[in-house]
Amino acid sequence: MISILVIHGPNLNLLGEREPGHYGRRTLAELDRELYSQAQKLGIRLLILQSNHEGVLIDFIHEQRRTAAGILINPGALTHYSYALRDAIAGVNLPAIEVHLSDIHKREAFRRKSVIREVCLEQVSGKGFDSYLEGLKLLVDYIGKNG
Ligand code: DQA
Repeated sequence: MISILVIHGPNLNLLGEREPGHYGRRTLAELDRELYSQAQKLGIRLLILQSNHEGVLIDFIHEQRRTAAGILINPGALTHYSYALRDAIAGVNLPAIEVHLSDIHKREAFRRKSVIREVCLEQVSGKGFDSYLEGLKLLVDYIGKNG
């Protein structure tokens, strides 16, 4: 059974109370529950991590690089400036999909730029929890065809 890393970046632990106009009222635990339930249907294993610390996210990617088949990542604000996270994804050579709950192309100008996008197969943005669920499906389809 393949393992996929699901990575939630800074501030996503506050889902449900944080800016609900952008991110909704449902919590990170509810999101993870939906992801585990979809993973069961797809016959895959998920390793899920949330951290507010860039280095913890990078260490996780390094540590899991030989056991994981792909990465589903919402890098939070690190999306817009973390070359270190970008290089970690590029460096482990695993297929990755970038996801966002809100539509980063319809908000402040600084959010339109993703430094992570280039090292990912796709970016899914603006669909709430469905961004993750759609991204997971895309990733598993890709691994099925190429892995
Ligand atoms: C986000 C969008 C980012 O710009 C923001 O910093 C986040 C969440 C999203 O899921 O919509 O923390 O990645």
